[in-house]
Amino acid sequence: MNKEKVIVTSALPYANGPIHLGHLSGAYLPADIYVRYKRLNGNDILYICGSDEHGVPITITADKEKITPKDVIDRFHNLNRESFEKFGMSFDIYSRTSLPEHHETAKEFFLKYYNQGLLKEKKSLQFFDESKKMFLPDRYVEGTCPKCGNESARSDECENCGALYEQTELINPVSKISGNRPILKETTHWYFPLNEFQERLEKYVGDMNEKFGWKDTVLQYCKSWFKEGLTDRAYTRDLDWGVKVPLDGAEGKVFYVWFEAVLGYISATKELSAKIGNPDLWKNYWQDSSTKYIAFIGKDNIVFHTIIFPAMLMAWNDASEEKYILPQNVPANEFLNFEGKKFSKSRNWGIDAIDFLKEFPADPLRYTLAANLPENRDTDFYWKEFQARNNNELADILGNFINRTFTFVHKHFDGIVPNQNTLSERDSEMLKLVESYPSRIAEYFERYKIKDGVAEIMNLARAGNKYFNDSEPWKTIKSNRDECATTLNISLQTIFTLAELLSPVIPFSSEKIFKMLNSKSIDWKESGKPNLTEGHKLGQPEILFTKIEDSVIETKMNILSNSAENNIEPMEETPLITYDDFMKVHLRVAKIISAEKVAKSEKLLKLQVELGEEKRQVIAGIAKSFSPEDIINRKIIMVANLKPAKLMGLESQGMILALEDESGKLTLLNVDENIPLGTRAK
Ligand code: MF3
Ligand code: ZN
Repeated sequence: MNKEKVIVTSALPYANGPIHLGHLSGAYLPADIYVRYKRLNGNDILYICGSDEHGVPITITADKEKITPKDVIDRFHNLNRESFEKFGMSFDIYSRTSLPEHHETAKEFFLKYYNQGLLKEKKSLQFFDESKKMFLPDRYVEGTCPKCGNESARSDECENCGALYEQTELINPVSKISGNRPILKETTHWYFPLNEFQERLEKYVGDMNEKFGWKDTVLQYCKSWFKEGLTDRAYTRDLDWGVKVPLDGAEGKVFYVWFEAVLGYISATKELSAKIGNPDLWKNYWQDSSTKYIAFIGKDNIVFHTIIFPAMLMAWNDASEEKYILPQNVPANEFLNFEGKKFSKSRNWGIDAIDFLKEFPADPLRYTLAANLPENRDTDFYWKEFQARNNNELADILGNFINRTFTFVHKHFDGIVPNQNTLSERDSEMLKLVESYPSRIAEYFERYKIKDGVAEIMNLARAGNKYFNDSEPWKTIKSNRDECATTLNISLQTIFTLAELLSPVIPFSSEKIFKMLNSKSIDWKESGKPNLTEGHKLGQPEILFTKIEDSVIETKMNILSNSAENNIEPMEETPLITYDDFMKVHLRVAKIISAEKVAKSEKLLKLQVELGEEKRQVIAGIAKSFSPEDIINRKIIMVANLKPAKLMGLESQGMILALEDESGKLTLLNVDENIPLGTRAK
């Protein structure tokens, strides 16, 4: 069989902040597992990534910190490259879009479009900050909504009343960068006519889905874009930072970041080719129709990879002899949250990869994230789950099976693979099970069901443990040495297979296991057979996984509950709300019917409250002011229509009102005993 040629990319992360666990489980870990698995299958893989180093947020960060955009991208490019390395990402190259090679590629594409007359030149009025001498992108202008009077409306839409309007209609616009009133200034931009590609894009998405089975979430997303109808998209922006528009009279204009970032995959492959001394190699991949291209991303990137990038490639192909391939699949993931809430830098919620990996090895994190990938819905990282996956699965199931097998073989068989003798039914079944595994796991991985595949691999370790127990080698070593030898032989073969199947998931540990086996990984498809020959000398056993103590996790949880408390937004000017705004909040009378401390938290009480007909659970941060006995049977006022949230893994279905004095002490609002439960306060 011919080797399958595959390009795999992971979204190029912005070099404007550190990679956190959410990023890892969205576009990086699943891709890395897939790539490592494909390599073991002998495929010809290029795995491409790098930093996305343009875009407005980078210039804003630079402005804020009074450094240059180059300082910003250098800092985060290096930091993120290091984070990925520690995490075991096996990119063939980690490039960056600030490199000249990328600028050249981006310009080449633009000129191809420009010269074929594809791009439309249009004039428009845009906000301009005179003090900063810059045009202001949408997000950086605020003003009063012309429809409802909301004073913090965005430049072209109001989040309060949903109105859409022209920038020119916004009342009292303010530049969020300088605080000054921006002027409207005419500017020229080039637009990519996405609408002209709609029909072909619909066919492309439909065909790919039919042949290769796209994820439902991705498909639905595309469909809703098509239904809305694609429109012209500005290819350029007024900005200094980015890839300069290569036309006379286009000074101060750069490409819109998305129209060049996606090309970063191609320029990174060019850089890789040059590095290995074969500068045209990239063409063998990107411009060879037999290559398959898989783009791993998070859900916020879908439109760029299923619509914009394909349209750009189609437009190139229309005007060139050299034809690029299009993504064959875009297995976008949903998001990973952190302990029930979105990762947020500004609210100090979450953990950066680099900090995590300073404290814990990569494999337990890889395993925990892999077991809980947001493939079909958002999922959460919980410290307690991390501990449980490490202690109960990696250490107690996998580690234990390997450890007891090795200890036994070293003690009773001189560390040499014992013979396989007459097989019992149990032995044959175990061998059959092991043999079935590589293709079974391949089926999952080929369909990007990484999470299910990983769960299934752990089941093999479970089966190994059970086989070892049921075979009772500690008895047969005395009663029937041949039978005992067979048990250990088969246990070792199982460990070999596990080492292979786990190597995409926990590569560092897998390498240790292979070292203990004094062996190496082989072709994936062969890895379920008995590969260890009788008489083969094993290596020395070592500890694979260390358990994580409760106290370690407690410290983490405490840091969290502190940051949850400090998360109150600063009181700036109090924004005015409308009567309707206020009426959205349902304040109701409720009674606390039980209260208890939440384990491991100094701040939280778990309350059950009665609210008319209903009972609710509320997790309230009041434990420092009240002990449970103080408040049982108290009537209080609560926010009854607050979205449920999880605190320390417990669901909270509302919030009770209290007054806080300067020392932080709380007092509950008094409610007259005669007021019926459920009464609404207005
Ligand atoms: N920087 C973008 C993000 O982090 C992803 C860019 S992916 C690419 O969301 F295709 F544009 F490179
Ligand atoms: Zn409005």
